[in-house]
Amino acid sequence: MSAPHADRYAVAGNPVEHSQSPFIHAAFARQTDQAIDYGRLLCPLDGFADALRRFAADDSAGPVRGCNVTVPFKFEAFELATRHTPRATLARAANTLRFDAEGWLADNTDGIGLVRDIERNAGVRLAGRRVLLMGAGGAAAGAIGPLLTSAPAALVVANRTVAKAQALVERHRAVAGQTELVARAPADCGSGFEVVVNATASSLQGADIPVGAGVLAPGALALDMMYGPAARGFIDWAQAHGARGRDGLGMLVEQAAEAFALWRGVMPDTAPVLDALRERLAASR
Ligand code: ATR
Repeated sequence: MSAPHADRYAVAGNPVEHSQSPFIHAAFARQTDQAIDYGRLLCPLDGFADALRRFAADDSAGPVRGCNVTVPFKFEAFELATRHTPRATLARAANTLRFDAEGWLADNTDGIGLVRDIERNAGVRLAGRRVLLMGAGGAAAGAIGPLLTSAPAALVVANRTVAKAQALVERHRAVAGQTELVARAPADCGSGFEVVVNATASSLQGADIPVGAGVLAPGALALDMMYGPAARGFIDWAQAHGARGRDGLGMLVEQAAEAFALWRGVMPDTAPVLDALRERLAASR
């Protein structure tokens, strides 16, 4: 009798060839003795839904149980799902889908991944802190709910297009609790933040940092959600102004762990996988 096929997953996006998710999930699977097969699904920019439906229906190599979703399909993935976790509903964007007997469940694990990386890996408690979130696109949308759950004193969402930040802030008003939650233009977002998170695409485009160095409190944690060369400009800028720069690799591993737990019911240990990923990327440089 042949061995049964492993459950299948993939990261769906465009582009996906440089995604580290297959490496991360393979490491989680080995660590937790889960038999899964995790690949890449390159979807046409105008054909995400069809590509995903075909992937989900193709059980020829094993049952397809879910996927991660990356740029630029997180909003569309949310719309395609029949059920949504509360944090995906707040973000209106999904980075994780689970295909089960009741249909497609959309989740968003980006924000909880960010919070875990800041609190556990970087060692900064968010409660009572002043936090600046730069950006109001898909990446920022996933982060606001979990950041608010961590009860910072203030959360300022700064975006070039202020109306987008305003819309996100209004949507999260009901879950803000005691946190002062406001939307601002980058030039007018205040100063002295202990945690600054860059969720804009500005560094990817080689653009200037959209805020002044006064946003950084002495010794602040300044985290760019990107990693590799795309995060370098922001990290260098932060370090030049006395802050602690951090890239998005820890967030990437933490969001993956939460997705893995949703699919497999077991939470992997992220620390060794983050170490291995940093080594792997350093070696490929
Ligand atoms: P993602 O899903 O990665 O968040 P997105 O939804 O396209 O991508 O959002 C990109 C974010 O980067 C937005 O907040 C965008 O600002 P606008 O809403 O004003 O467009 C921000 N952004 C992109 N390029 C920027 C730049 N050169 N300077 C400042 N902000 C920039």
